Amino acid sequence: MMSGSSASTGSSGEHSSSSPAQYPRDNVYPRTSCISSNLQVIPYHKLVDLRFINKGAYGTVHSALHSDWRTRVAVKFFPSDRHLVDRERDKILKEAEILHKARFSYILPILGICNEEENIGIVTEYMPNGSLNQLLHEDNPFPEISWPLRIRILYEIALGVNFLHNMSPPLLHHDLKTPNILLDSEFHAKIADFGLSKWRMLSQSLSDHNPPGGTIIYMPPELYDPEKNSRGSVKHDMYSYAIIMWEVLSRKQPYEGATNPMQIMFSVAKGNRPDTSEESLPSDIPHRDLFVSIMQSGWASDPNDRPAFLSE
Ligand SMILES: Nc1ncnc2c1ncn2[C@@H]1O[C@H](COP(=O)(O)OP(=O)(O)OP(=O)(O)O)[C@@H](O)[C@H]1O
Ligand SMILES: [Mg+2]
Repeated sequence: MMSGSSASTGSSGEHSSSSPAQYPRDNVYPRTSCISSNLQVIPYHKLVDLRFINKGAYGTVHSALHSDWRTRVAVKFFPSDRHLVDRERDKILKEAEILHKARFSYILPILGICNEEENIGIVTEYMPNGSLNQLLHEDNPFPEISWPLRIRILYEIALGVNFLHNMSPPLLHHDLKTPNILLDSEFHAKIADFGLSKWRMLSQSLSDHNPPGGTIIYMPPELYDPEKNSRGSVKHDMYSYAIIMWEVLSRKQPYEGATNPMQIMFSVAKGNRPDTSEESLPSDIPHRDLFVSIMQSGWASDPNDRPAFLSE
């Protein structure tokens, strides 16, 4: 059995996790101890040869060489503004805990947390093939992406979401989008970014639901009006998944002709969805009819008409 180092993956196990709120408030944060039973705190000075990858809504992603492990890792650093630091730190530690509890083949493995006064970051495995968004839409050495690879990626995302939704309590991602699907050295999918994730207590009302951030195209229409959003939450990821499915099979940007997000929201609220004709989804897609029927039910306007990942 693996123990001790969080560098080993797959040893999720049940364990009691420290709440971020229990951390000392005097800016003395644990540097070498564990946040939870086997989530390591990684000292910043062990992360060398930092290389900028990209900047997202919540932080900046770098790759780095871990000087002891001698492997490349990815670190998402968060802005360490002194005024926000406690609140931000709590949020980040919570995200790290969520990732740590959600270890699974198709979820981005967390290796540890960098928890120092100046440098706060989540350290994960480095995904050398970037994001699904890059694979689909950026110039890359693979102008053709085979149907088997596309279908495998979709299958692995579905298995990842299925795992999250069948955790106890279910973990709803709520920010599924192609930039948050990362690809390992063999192009296996790893779901990342649980910043907006919600643990859903089965008996709990969803009144504490926060409006999601991020890109509007993956957001189900019932969320446009937070007042009306009641039971839709568990079907949110299914809607996003259906849009991802269309994007992977068409290799186009959903609603690429639209000039602004309001236009997309207006059109989607009226029932419009990405084009499923052969112009966007070519006739040689294997099991094309099946995929089209899954995406159409997945992006149904009424959340009750969408299939669920959650087992009854
Ligand atoms: N572990 C990783 N390995 C390799 N590249 C990564 C890793 N994590 C993130 N990236 C890259 O960094 C990019 C930015 O990630 P980030 O999550 O900060 O922003 P985003 O996904 O575009 O938007 P959001 O902030 O809404 O999640 C990703 O799209 C991906 O290309
Ligand atoms: Mg992201």
